[in-house]
Amino acid sequence: MRIVCDTMEEIKGKDLYWSGNKKAKNMKKATLYIDKHFIVGEVDKRIYGSFIEHLGRAVYEGIYQPNSPFADEQGMRKDVIALIRKLNVPVVRYPGGNFVSGYHWEDGVGPKENRPEKIDLAWNVIESNQFGLNEFVDWTKKAGTSPMMAVNLGTRGVEDAKNIVEYCNLKGGSYYSDLRKKHGYEQPHDIKLWCLGNEMDGPWQMGHKTAQEYGRSAAEAGRIMKMVDPTIELVACGSSSLMMPTFGSWEGTVLSECYDQADYVSLHQYYGNQEDNTAEFLANTVAMDQFISSVISICDAVKAKRRKQKTINLSFDEWNVWYHSMEQDQKLERWCKAPHQLEDVYNFEDALLVAGMMITMLRHADRVKVACLAQLVNVIAPIMTSDTGAWMQTIYHPFALISNYGRGTVLHTLVDAPVYESRHGDASYLDAVCIMDEEQETLTIFAVNKDLQETMELNCDLRQFEGYQMQEHIVLTHEDVKAVNTQEHPDNVAPTADGNAKVEDGKLTAVLCDKSFHVIRLGKKQK
Ligand code: AHR
Repeated sequence: MRIVCDTMEEIKGKDLYWSGNKKAKNMKKATLYIDKHFIVGEVDKRIYGSFIEHLGRAVYEGIYQPNSPFADEQGMRKDVIALIRKLNVPVVRYPGGNFVSGYHWEDGVGPKENRPEKIDLAWNVIESNQFGLNEFVDWTKKAGTSPMMAVNLGTRGVEDAKNIVEYCNLKGGSYYSDLRKKHGYEQPHDIKLWCLGNEMDGPWQMGHKTAQEYGRSAAEAGRIMKMVDPTIELVACGSSSLMMPTFGSWEGTVLSECYDQADYVSLHQYYGNQEDNTAEFLANTVAMDQFISSVISICDAVKAKRRKQKTINLSFDEWNVWYHSMEQDQKLERWCKAPHQLEDVYNFEDALLVAGMMITMLRHADRVKVACLAQLVNVIAPIMTSDTGAWMQTIYHPFALISNYGRGTVLHTLVDAPVYESRHGDASYLDAVCIMDEEQETLTIFAVNKDLQETMELNCDLRQFEGYQMQEHIVLTHEDVKAVNTQEHPDNVAPTADGNAKVEDGKLTAVLCDKSFHVIRLGKKQK
């Protein structure tokens, strides 16, 4: 990879070199341009969603472990719930993932002693069904979140999709709503957001389909689900990733079939650093940005072709780093219960990319309305558990900070910073976005300095934010990009509130150390 602008001459040539401070010779310079009238859109809080699948130890030993000293009366892990509450996750997708495409939700409701043990062909394990739909809904209330439920359009279809909505959302007076009552749930669950299957383009998916087949099935399932409850919203499956050979044509065909029923189309993407090239790895935000723009274009092309008023928005309902555990998972025995599967141990560079991915989605807040960090506990997750405790992985921190502080209106954030060449094209050394909350009179900047060696001076003219003061400058950095958090050393990678940002004469300046994530919080009131 060639670094563009890596010499002073090049940087000077681009007028990006700051000469005011001799010590800052190796400092890059970046400027953010914002205008409070140039708005991308409101942050839909569901952009901070996550995902729990019946997979590995996500459910069993993750959120549910009746024999644990941390369990409540229902068997839910209280220590995990406490960590999830701090993440501030408004929606959690469930029960899969690949798992849902072979799932019979009826197996997981009613008296536990009657629930069957079944094989799960998505992950080659035995599913005990001791945790199911009703337990999940109970758990979401305890964890301060809400369910995003997926229906099985793999081995099942329209009939099953109708029944589960009836079971969950009708008051009573019908077979399935009365069955829910019989199971001890008098009030409807009132689940508002539903996925029409999962990754139906993938040959690994049980009952996978062509775009035409899936589009028809999604349209019919969606039509009947909305007949049962017209207040629900539906997510149609987009491609399983940008790399699928059918990407683009899949979205076009599927949306042509189910445009009237769907409200969102899904995007899924995981990144890995298999080549151990951190700069390339962090440049994946460019790829993600292009992916989002492409899907928006396809949605709007179908809208134009079909002369529709309605706009299809995006549900980025699986995103994360995933690669650390893949080799290990090849060695797993078949037909065990809740194995250690997809247990990626995340390092500091993963946390930087997670921050960058969240910034990228926020920059598209006008169209990305739902997003789910995949997943939440033990399985490619920010939270890990053992029998003796729960701890935060490195990626927990950027997620928690952005989820907690990234609420309000996203401003078009023009980033003028040096770039480097990557396999996805020019990658800015700085990923950044500004979010304003007019009511609270706050302005928050999220920024990642991707430079692995050099600090960066950040400038932003705040003339439209008269009287705004520095409230807090939180920094997440580590000298070793491979540093991890473990149960023994849970705070090895953790944020500190010791950033140096300052506001003077209506101008913000901050020095961002190399390889670092920043939350700069400004407001009219002193904190
Ligand atoms: O999140 C892990 C798996 O990744 C999901 O089950 C599937 O949808 C995707 O391929």
